[in-house]
Order: sequence, then C-alpha cells, then structure tokens
Amino acid sequence: MSYSNGDMCGIAGYVGERNGVEVAYDQLKRLEYRGYDSAGIAVQVDGRLDLVKKAGTLNMLAKELELHPITGTCAIGHSRWATHGGPTDLNAHPHFDGEQDVVLVHNGIIENYLELKEELMQKGHTFLSQTDTEVAAHVIGEEYRKGGTLLEAVRHAVRRFRGAYAFVVMSKSEIGTIVAVRNASPLVLGLGQGENLLASDIPALLPYTRQVVAMEEGHLAELKKDSLRIVDGDGRDVPVRPQIIEWDVAAAERGGYEHFMLKEIHEQPQVIRQCLAGRLTEDRVFLENIFSDTVWNEIDRVNIIACGTAFHAGLMGKHLFEKLLRLPTDVYFSSEFRYGDPVLSPKSLAVFVSQSGETADTLAALRLCKSRRIRTLGIVNVVGSSIARECDRTIFTQAGPEISVASTKAYTAQVLVLSLLALHIAQVQETPGLRVADWVEELRLLSDHAQTVLTLEPETVKLAEQLKNMPLCFFLGRGADAYVGYEGALKLKEIAYIPTQESPAGEMKHGPLALVEAGVGAIFGATDPSTVDKVVSNIKEIQARAGTVLSITSDTSGAIRKASDHTLEFQPTRFDFLNALLSVIPMQLLAYHIANAKGCSIDQPRNLAKSVTVE
Ligand code: G6P
Repeated sequence: MSYSNGDMCGIAGYVGERNGVEVAYDQLKRLEYRGYDSAGIAVQVDGRLDLVKKAGTLNMLAKELELHPITGTCAIGHSRWATHGGPTDLNAHPHFDGEQDVVLVHNGIIENYLELKEELMQKGHTFLSQTDTEVAAHVIGEEYRKGGTLLEAVRHAVRRFRGAYAFVVMSKSEIGTIVAVRNASPLVLGLGQGENLLASDIPALLPYTRQVVAMEEGHLAELKKDSLRIVDGDGRDVPVRPQIIEWDVAAAERGGYEHFMLKEIHEQPQVIRQCLAGRLTEDRVFLENIFSDTVWNEIDRVNIIACGTAFHAGLMGKHLFEKLLRLPTDVYFSSEFRYGDPVLSPKSLAVFVSQSGETADTLAALRLCKSRRIRTLGIVNVVGSSIARECDRTIFTQAGPEISVASTKAYTAQVLVLSLLALHIAQVQETPGLRVADWVEELRLLSDHAQTVLTLEPETVKLAEQLKNMPLCFFLGRGADAYVGYEGALKLKEIAYIPTQESPAGEMKHGPLALVEAGVGAIFGATDPSTVDKVVSNIKEIQARAGTVLSITSDTSGAIRKASDHTLEFQPTRFDFLNALLSVIPMQLLAYHIANAKGCSIDQPRNLAKSVTVE
C-alpha cells in the first residue's frame, strides 16, 4: 500500500524575532478549515533542528508541545490531510532527512517517490515513515551535503521529483533561513517588518502582514527575517512583487458568530456590495480586464466548467445566458469535462468558476482548454490562485476569504459575476429588448433585499426544530428555482447529513415521487410567477402522499402560501432571476440551523475539505 500525504495540507512558516512555535501554531489554527488529521512544528535551535508532531487535532499537538516544549525564532508547521493511509504520528510532518541536517513540510504528491526510495535504500538510507515526504527530505539532505546553500540544494533536488508539490525546508546550519518551492500546490509568502512568513493560504498571514506574494509555479523563495529572495528553476533572481491584501484580520476570523458558515451567510449583503463595487455605472455594467468587443461578438457558445457549489452557480449562469442572450451554454462538472473528450467550438468561451482557484479537476480542465486554444475566463475568489493566473482573463468575485467548507457567500458572488458578465455581453451585442439600465437599478438594491431576506432567520430556527428529523428532503422548483434547489440540497446534505433528492419539480412524477411518505420533507423554491400554478400542483402531489411542504417564495398572489404547510416569504425584486438567487439565503440558513440543532460539526463536515486539490 502506498502512503502519501494529500494535497490539501496546511503549511505555516515564520522567521523573525518572535517565538516561531507560537506563530506557526497560530497560523495552523487559521488553516484548520482545510481539514487535517495530524500536525507538527519544527524549529531551528542552537545548530540543531527540533520537532514535535502528533496525529489528531491541533489540540493534541498543543498538548504534545506542553510535554515536549520547543522554541526558536525560525519555525515551520504543517497540518496534514491524508489521501491514502495512516494519519499516524510517524507519518505526520515535518520530516527529517536521515542525518537530521534538514527538516521539511510538504503539500502534494511526489509521484516517483518509490523509485527514489529504492535508489536511496540501496545507498543505505533507512526510513521511519511510509510517506513520499520523508523520501523528499532524504533527497534534499543528500543534495545539501554536497555543499552549497539550502536554496541550491532544494533547487537541484526538485529536479528529481515528479508530481505536484510545495515544500518548505530548514537546515540546521543556515540559521534564520527558510527555503520554499512551489510546483502546482499553493504557497503564499508574507512580508513583515523584521519578520517574514509563509503559508498555504492567505488567512494564515493576515494577522501578521497584508503584503503578500503568491509564489509562481516552479519558483523558489529564501526567507530570512530581513530579506526575501525569489529565484526561478534555473536559479535566476526574479523580482518580488507583493500585493496588498485589503481583507482585514476580522474578515478572516469568525467575528461574533458561532461558526464561519453563519458569519459568511450574514456577510452576503456586504459581499453583494463588494462584488458590484466599481462595476456599475449609472446605467451600464463595467467589467475590468475583459476581452475586447470583437471577441464577445464572435463567441458562439459558452461552456461553464466547475465543481460543487461553483457548478451550481454555473447552472444559474446557463439559465441567464440562454434566457437573456440566447447564447447556447453548457455546464460541465470539471471531472467529467477533462476526461470526456468534449466537443469544443473554436469560437467558444470556456468559463471556469472556482472559489479557491485551486480545485485540481477545474485546473486540469482549464489546461485542457488552453491546449486546444479555446478562450478561457476565470470567475475566481482567491487572488493569485492558479486558476486566476492561468486563465486568459479572470473576474474576481471579491467575496473575501471563505472559511466554512460549505460555501455560501462565494455562490452568491459567483452568480452575481455571471449576471454581470451576461449584462456586459448584452451591452456589446446590443441584445434587443434587454434594458441593462433596469438591471443596474435593481442590482443596486440587491444588497438591501438580501439584508431583508436575512430577517427570516428566526423563522428558519423554528422550522429547523420541526424539520430536523426528516429522513429525506426534496428540493424542488422550476427553471432557476430548480437550480437554486440543487445548491440548497447540497447545503443540507453536506452539513446536516440529511439525504436529499433535488430535481426540477416536473420530473417528480417520473420516479422520485415513489419516495414520498409521512415524515419526508419537500422544500420548494417558488419565485417565478409564470410557473406558480404548476408549482401549486406539484405541492399538492407531495401532500397527497403525506409529505410536508415548505415553500421559499416571493410570490405575491398568496397561492403558494395557501398551498404550503410552511412558507418563508420575502418581497420580490423586479427580476425573477434575482428572486431565485435571493431564495438561496433561507435555504442556507435552514441547513445551518438544522445542522446546529442536530449538533453537527458545521464548519468542518465529515469527509469533506474546502479546497479539493486532489483528483
Ligand atoms: C469543495 C468545497 C465546495 C466547493 C467545491 C469547488 O467541494 O467543499 O464548497 O464548491 O470544492 O471548489 P472551488 O474552490 O473550485 O469553488
């Protein structure tokens, strides 16, 4: 059996004047949302390297650190998320080389580690763990003992590795130096005053600095407390270009909320404002860094490619592109697209929607499109992420850091950006009958509408108590309401562990209706006035089989309320599409409060991770 660390690990690193162990631990805490099963920290001290690591939660590591205290001003840390095999103390990172000359942490997979291990064992190396990481440590140690700097040793060593990785390495003799290398796994550097840091994600840097450098593929960095040097794979210096991250520290922490998810749900009015900021003029939309008008006039088809919640946002994009623009649009799961040999028109546009910008399947699909010379556009939240950098053009969702594994505010921002994109294309193509100015007016009010929808929360708390024991919950609707239902269902199943069946309401009679019986719930999205009658019939079909119906609706006729057992109602905007989008908020709240009532681990649901950088 092969044991390999996953590509979703948290990495921390600090060099400066403070206690590096405390800083690295704090950084790992801020990366907890990534999911982990073991953790460890190493420091440089008096010409040697000390390390403490432990399987389990960060609290287990804290206890271990109390029993075996270590201290130093240059430290690296790691929280591991295993993809295969044992979350054990020995497999936890950091790992030493055989002579304990170097110590490292790693995020990714060294594909040829068995070959390398064999080679090293023939030379007499012995290994304590089953990880590819320890093999990498031995290779780097071997290079280091040939002489030269740690930076050079790492640069030479990685030429022997195949795979995706980010490494962070310290040696016992280069005091106050951390070396990092990045190849396909995320790594960001933070520039402080008299101290420098690194991490696998930005929230782990924010309490210390806002000056951040996203490392490029194949680059290496050498951090000391007063300097940062970056070189390419050939050892040539490259300029250090920090970006200022505007997110404040509180934005990356829980604020006053019990869970990140609830905080992020409540942030949505602000996120809507942020996402629209600078993108609406009096009567038009304005998107920065977008293709020329010639390109928009040429595009004959859009393929939206994404996973999870981002896929559901893509479905909303399809609805709008086809309805408003009559532009044929398909939505693909990234994992299917990349292996599906898709038929791609040379005039098509491929749109990649991703919160993290690092999802492995989405990135692979992007690279496939690039190899076929298809135009690519990213809709991404994390600035500096791989998808953001590799797309021909990227529009940022500007939703701020999303920590909860279950995505909420990123979805709203993704759908909004897709709407802005549709309106931009409409402007260029002068789509007949579409008044962009009306949309702009309504978009300006959307944040206030979202705020009002949030006032339904006390009702969702009460309903959660009544519905928490549902053995099965349907999510039903028509048109955009069906698509929002897919997202509502995902929230409920991923955090409250309630099985769901999501489907366009008209499909019920073709099979799923057989599952309805007493105790089963059905949540209807009902925001489209043109289908109210049909939806009322569908509600009756559920009730006739003893199912309980909750409708989330902006219907002003009263028909939906009258037909349903429970309703969550809000005032409509002028556009059905925006009403459908707003209806996701009560679904998110409901999922949250049901999960809370059941005592589920909300921010870190079982078996799931925020950023899926493995295939
Ligand atoms: C994981 C997360 C989801 C997310 C999906 C796609 O499954 O738990 O919340 O929607 O990945 O991630 P991305 O970062 O590409 O949007």
